[in-house]
Amino acid sequence: MFEANPMKSRLLGNTGIEVSEVGFGAWQIGADWGTEIPKDLAISSLHTAVDAGINFIDTADVYGAGRSETIIGEFLKERNETIYVATKMGRGSSEWTDSYDQIAKAAEDSCKRLGVPALDLIQLHCIPEQTLMAGKAFENLEKIKDVGLIKNYGASVETIEEALFCIRSSSASTLQVIFNIFRQRVISDLLQAASRNRVGIIARVPLASGLLSGKFTKDHHFAENDHRKFNCDGQMFNVGETFAGVPFESGVDFAIEVERILEGQLPNANLAQKSLRWILDHEEVTTVIPGAKNPEQTRQNAAVSAFNSLSIESHEKLSDLYKEKIDKQVRGRY
Ligand SMILES: NC(=O)c1ccc[n+]([C@@H]2O[C@H](COP(=O)([O-])OP(=O)(O)OC[C@H]3O[C@@H](n4cnc5c(N)ncnc54)[C@H](OP(=O)(O)O)[C@@H]3O)[C@@H](O)[C@H]2O)c1
Repeated sequence: MFEANPMKSRLLGNTGIEVSEVGFGAWQIGADWGTEIPKDLAISSLHTAVDAGINFIDTADVYGAGRSETIIGEFLKERNETIYVATKMGRGSSEWTDSYDQIAKAAEDSCKRLGVPALDLIQLHCIPEQTLMAGKAFENLEKIKDVGLIKNYGASVETIEEALFCIRSSSASTLQVIFNIFRQRVISDLLQAASRNRVGIIARVPLASGLLSGKFTKDHHFAENDHRKFNCDGQMFNVGETFAGVPFESGVDFAIEVERILEGQLPNANLAQKSLRWILDHEEVTTVIPGAKNPEQTRQNAAVSAFNSLSIESHEKLSDLYKEKIDKQVRGRY
């Protein structure tokens, strides 16, 4: 018998698009997470995602130097459903500038790899604050939207100040921010402003790079080509993108405290799922985009949409834990 898909949708800012409230983060199927994920396994994870009702995939031109986009492009040919792909531009190449020609070229290249005539959503990929605030990138994105190469644009940003600037001074439809139990300032400082201005919020690094699954011990060994090793203290890029900026060993301890607080909540859920549920309990968030290594993680993450909310009491306790212990340990631009 046909069963209704339990995945819920939310409106993506002012785009008119309804996206699944759990999306698929596709950095993992590019590079930087240890052993390269074989293409077949990546495609299998993407099928699992769409079978579970996910219709929103987040990627970037730099993930595996185009590998993530190329795999998604191959996958899209295998499905007839409407699937929205959000990609990003502006990192990884010293040649990228905010000029019309450079932005149009980056959009064209992403279209080619994804095999689509126009991009559903292009996001500026944590470009330098000065360049972002100069505003030329947004002006050029608007022009490129007019010629039909992109349908919507937004920005992935590092600081709340940058996010508020985009809301005030651009027509960006979406903002992608780090938001999880270890990064809670977004709740008081950003969510309502975004919602009032019909700007969609895409929550990235929702599991603090896996820490909030509770599976790591302090002696866990990450591979040399895993950013959790080579960027654990921000050696290569913004430390916030790795473990949400929390030092690894403290993060392991915090995850144990989070697990204790959430004990007894959602008895059939594991800690990763409870941590994702915590994000979705904030109605101003449009979609959360956990990165997944395999179909099983993908399935577990998608299932969270059908779960009940966590209790108000556990939200309060996690807020206290954050304010008392975690906030002061978060490193990097925030
Ligand atoms: N600047 C930017 O715009 C930016 C930066 C970062 C991320 N992003 C986007 O946001 C997405 C999500 O962030 P992220 O991937 O960095 O971090 P994340 O979602 O917080 O963590 C992903 C990791 O969590 C673990 N995991 C996922 N599901 C799990 C489950 N059900 N049970 C146990 N462990 C699970 C996996 O770790 P293992 O690998 O150990 O299995 C996975 O690699 C990315 O894929 C990317 O699309 C954007």
